[in-house]
Amino acid sequence: MTRVLVAYGTRFGSTREIASAIVHELNSGGLDAQAAEASGSLNPDNYDAFVIGSPLYGSKWLSTAGMCAAVMSEHIEGKPVALFSIGTTGVADPEAGEAEHKEFIGGLTEVAPKLNIVSDAVFNGYFERSNLPWYLRIIDRFAPTPQGDHRDWSAIHAWAKSLVPKLTAK
Ligand SMILES: Cc1cc2nc3c(=O)[nH]c(=O)nc-3n(C[C@H](O)[C@H](O)[C@H](O)COP(=O)(O)O)c2cc1C
Repeated sequence: MTRVLVAYGTRFGSTREIASAIVHELNSGGLDAQAAEASGSLNPDNYDAFVIGSPLYGSKWLSTAGMCAAVMSEHIEGKPVALFSIGTTGVADPEAGEAEHKEFIGGLTEVAPKLNIVSDAVFNGYFERSNLPWYLRIIDRFAPTPQGDHRDWSAIHAWAKSLVPKLTAK
């Protein structure tokens, strides 16, 4: 059975719930997936395929998830990898959200050219204004991000389902 690691970064927990949904869908498709918070202690040798994701903060992934992808790329010998970003830029402007994600993935592939990326996607996240530091709350007043849970669970499940054949060990 194909063993899949779904490694995620999170600050406030919304990406953890997305990682759980992805695991659920992959397991329903016959894979053996498990989620773990991205860290240097994950052993890529225990897995045949990877899904790695992070929320965007200041247009970048959390460093734990970015480092995890970059470091693992050196040890996974072309095993398939799917990447996802979570953010709220796309709530008001889907093209801008997609562009922010693509920009980050482009930078990641420059530092980790060995990643065998079979799919990548960006999904809207959960925006809680009180999580902003005070100086960002002032900036946010001028172009307010819509508050609340913007996660599109059917899109997340559909993407995870589409990964099953791409991640399945040959
Ligand atoms: C301080 C701060 C900065 C953020 N920066 C971005 C950003 O640059 N782009 C984006 O799309 N979303 C941004 N977001 C939205 C988060 O990515 C979103 O809330 C996400 O769901 C948080 O995931 P988590 O709960 O797993 O930490 C930001 C949120 C906060 C609080």
